[in-house]
Amino acid sequence: MFNLDQILRPHIKSMEPYSSARDEFKGTSGIFLDANENSMGSITSERFNRYPDPYQWELKKKISQIKNVKKEKIFLGNGSDEIIDLIFRLFCEPGKDNTIIMPPTYGMYEVSASINDVNIKKVALTDDYQIDLEAVLKAVDTHTKIIWICSPNNPTGNLLNLDHIQQIIASFSGIVVIDEAYIDFSPYKSLTSQLQKYPNLIIIQTFSKAWGLASLRLGMAFTSEEIIFYLNKIKPPYNINGLTQSKILDALEDESHKNRMVNNILYQKKLLVKDLEKLPIVLKIYPSDANFLLVKTTDGKKIYDYLVSKGIIVRDRSSVRLCEGCLRITIGSEKENFALINNLQEYPIGSNQVDL
Ligand SMILES: Cc1ncc(COP(=O)(O)O)c(C=O)c1O
Repeated sequence: MFNLDQILRPHIKSMEPYSSARDEFKGTSGIFLDANENSMGSITSERFNRYPDPYQWELKKKISQIKNVKKEKIFLGNGSDEIIDLIFRLFCEPGKDNTIIMPPTYGMYEVSASINDVNIKKVALTDDYQIDLEAVLKAVDTHTKIIWICSPNNPTGNLLNLDHIQQIIASFSGIVVIDEAYIDFSPYKSLTSQLQKYPNLIIIQTFSKAWGLASLRLGMAFTSEEIIFYLNKIKPPYNINGLTQSKILDALEDESHKNRMVNNILYQKKLLVKDLEKLPIVLKIYPSDANFLLVKTTDGKKIYDYLVSKGIIVRDRSSVRLCEGCLRITIGSEKENFALINNLQEYPIGSNQVDL
């Protein structure tokens, strides 16, 4: 049975968090002489002289309407990457606790675990890139605090079996994080509807992919109010800057624009698959529920180097276990995809050697 009190690191329960000026006085009008800001204004044309709302309530209200999740169940981070780090810090005792990841998957789970000195148990996905349920459940021990599930998965591009995901959430007494960075591109709905049922579930999403706002750095976590309380306790006070808050609010005014971009990307993906299929260097294109394709080629690294020499950068995953020979290709604009295909058509096969 999941018990948050037993999962949290004990010192975080008892520690006193930083109390910012904006925590102590909550009103919006008045003469603010409490935060050592510059009352004269900013050096820029827009006003950035005041600290932003540490809890980003206006933004959360808007996200809450779009995602259909109560604003109190939303946590925002400086990209999902900050949220991943905070989750490790909240639950894992360095040098003692461990986490389960399922490679090949998003690299930051491992990097963040290493930074936090958390032991990593790797349970590889099956050959068809699905969860090895039995092996995952077997890998759990008394020090396992977090299981990471990325669906649709990066770099394989596919959704993971929902039944397996639910069995893990239901049977594991620690935290299960589902990373839905690419969910907007998939035919499936987010698992946010399951939050009420599972108190050990954290779902993360991002504005970096479908919304086209990677540079603003905004990640979302949806989970219980209890877990949000502790994430707020340990986060840097003003982790979401004022410019990001205001630009994301602008973008949220027009969700249909995001949907149109997603549809266009999915359409471009179809065209790209058709063109890639015709190339002799392409051995397999894996089914994708995301905005990228994992493509098995005759010679991953050489084709990668060849494309770089042509000014086209894809992701070389050819040395990753279960992805041998593969390149991960983000769906670009029509023009970019066209350039990619044109250059791949000219790849000198036969010799299998490229002089660079
Ligand atoms: C699965 C997955 N999660 C999270 C991220 C990072 O998201 P963010 O830009 O919000 O830090 C990525 C980025 O590639 C990703 O592939």
